[in-house]
Amino acid sequence: MIILKTIAATQQFIVAEKQTGKTIGFVPTMGALHAGHISLVQQAKSETNLVVVSIFVNPTQFNDPKDLEKYPVTIEADTEKLIAAGVDVLFLPSVAEMYPNAASRQMDYDLGYIDTVLEAAARPGHFKGVALVVKKLLDIVTPHKLYMGQKDYQQLQVVRKLIADFDLDIELVSCPIIREPDGLAMSSRNVRLTDEYRIAATELSKALFHLKKDIANQTLPAARATAQHHLNSHPLIDVVYLEIVNGHALVPINHVNEATNIAALLAAKVGGVHLLDNIILKP
Ligand code: PAF
Repeated sequence: MIILKTIAATQQFIVAEKQTGKTIGFVPTMGALHAGHISLVQQAKSETNLVVVSIFVNPTQFNDPKDLEKYPVTIEADTEKLIAAGVDVLFLPSVAEMYPNAASRQMDYDLGYIDTVLEAAARPGHFKGVALVVKKLLDIVTPHKLYMGQKDYQQLQVVRKLIADFDLDIELVSCPIIREPDGLAMSSRNVRLTDEYRIAATELSKALFHLKKDIANQTLPAARATAQHHLNSHPLIDVVYLEIVNGHALVPINHVNEATNIAALLAAKVGGVHLLDNIILKP
């Protein structure tokens, strides 16, 4: 695996590889890699000729500076995992490389409605920062295919919109959520859960799995209310939102026939850790 730290070297390398006819698969990450990230790499390896992974803890997407400070940085372990997974290129830029001046932190782009609801309402400015860094990374790596996890469901819709709005010739591949054996969705934040909260966190996926079963004989609002009640009654869980939405537009849905893409999106604070999970109710 080659490790490239500058934009110029990365662009030069990728241009040369593309000239030999290779297709590029790209997995953007913020490090603290787990099996979920490696599943994205494996899918990229099975569908493209050259796999690029970036590790960059992007400061512009943290609306809470304490969250940025606490974000786990495990670069040596990450590098080993990427080598073992057969990654070709690790792009590892510094903050100064990605944001050399104040102007480079600005992007005059309005994400519209999806930047006003759910995760966006809970973390103002977060998706502006995600859109900014993903656009920069896509301009540098110029992949044919971009691999992102379904776990960050709203982020996926933000990137889908970004690709469409900027007419980028990139296929966005949504990869399934990878779960721990007890159902907890894998996340770099899970390491921050103490034992007691780690057990409580399993209630999130349980509630979503029940919700999916319940919609066979209950209305969507009733199934949602049952799941919300179950989670609210747990003393260690603070639900931030639980909504059933049209999966692409993220508009709330009350009836299963209203849309083809329907997903239930959940965020909760468990021991002060902001956890996300979701389930597709209707593909
Ligand atoms: O999902 C993440 O790890 C980050 O939000 C991303 C897409 C790498 C942008 O910083």
